[in-house]
Amino acid sequence: METTSSAAPANSRSGPLTAALGLIVLGVGLWFAIDAYGSWYPIFKWAHVTLVVFWVGGGLMLTVLGLRAERSEDPREIGMIAAQAAWVGERFFAPAGGLVLLAGIGMVINGHLGWNHFWIIAGLVGYASTMVVGVAFLTPLAKKVAASMQARGPEHPETIALIKRILLVARVDIAVLMLVVADMVTKPFS
Ligand code: HEM
Repeated sequence: METTSSAAPANSRSGPLTAALGLIVLGVGLWFAIDAYGSWYPIFKWAHVTLVVFWVGGGLMLTVLGLRAERSEDPREIGMIAAQAAWVGERFFAPAGGLVLLAGIGMVINGHLGWNHFWIIAGLVGYASTMVVGVAFLTPLAKKVAASMQARGPEHPETIALIKRILLVARVDIAVLMLVVADMVTKPFS
């Protein structure tokens, strides 16, 4: 009983505190960006890079956790990582990727950079490839996993094999995104 009553106030405080931290980061980030050039470019760039950190960093973290789960050979841990990856991918990574694209387009237009550069074309191709991988492979595989879980259960070898295939495709996807990061940072052949 005591545990419940002492945990409740802590939980109710964490929402407003998180919101306040978010507002502080937003306010200070905008102040930096506006002071930097007085144009939209740094605001787009800040949004672009922050969302890339969230999207690609989150994907890398899931890759590490997926590798650990595979090594453990524990079907419940493997299933849990796959379920979390599907949840965060659909609700957060897909919209974050769309905003990364929009902010990138915003920078090219606002900064009059021109489209005919290897690093920009490679960014567009990299983005298109993750969309194709998501629609053509990850979404149908996730549906097959859900069906297999329903029919055979989460610990059946076929369900586990499907989950491992999803984790492998997601690993290739994150490798492509890492290459786009290298491309954007170094701007080769430009
Ligand atoms: C696959 C998704 C993408 C990732 C992971 C990504 C990643 C990054 C990163 C890490 C930077 C910071 C580079 C630096 O400041 O040195 C950056 C900058 C930039 N990105 Fe992307 N990007 C992606 C897609 C795109 C797309 C599709 C476009 C264009 C339509 C684009 C346009 C730009 C521009 C204009 C900059 C600023 C360059 C500068 O001011 O130096 N990005 N990107």
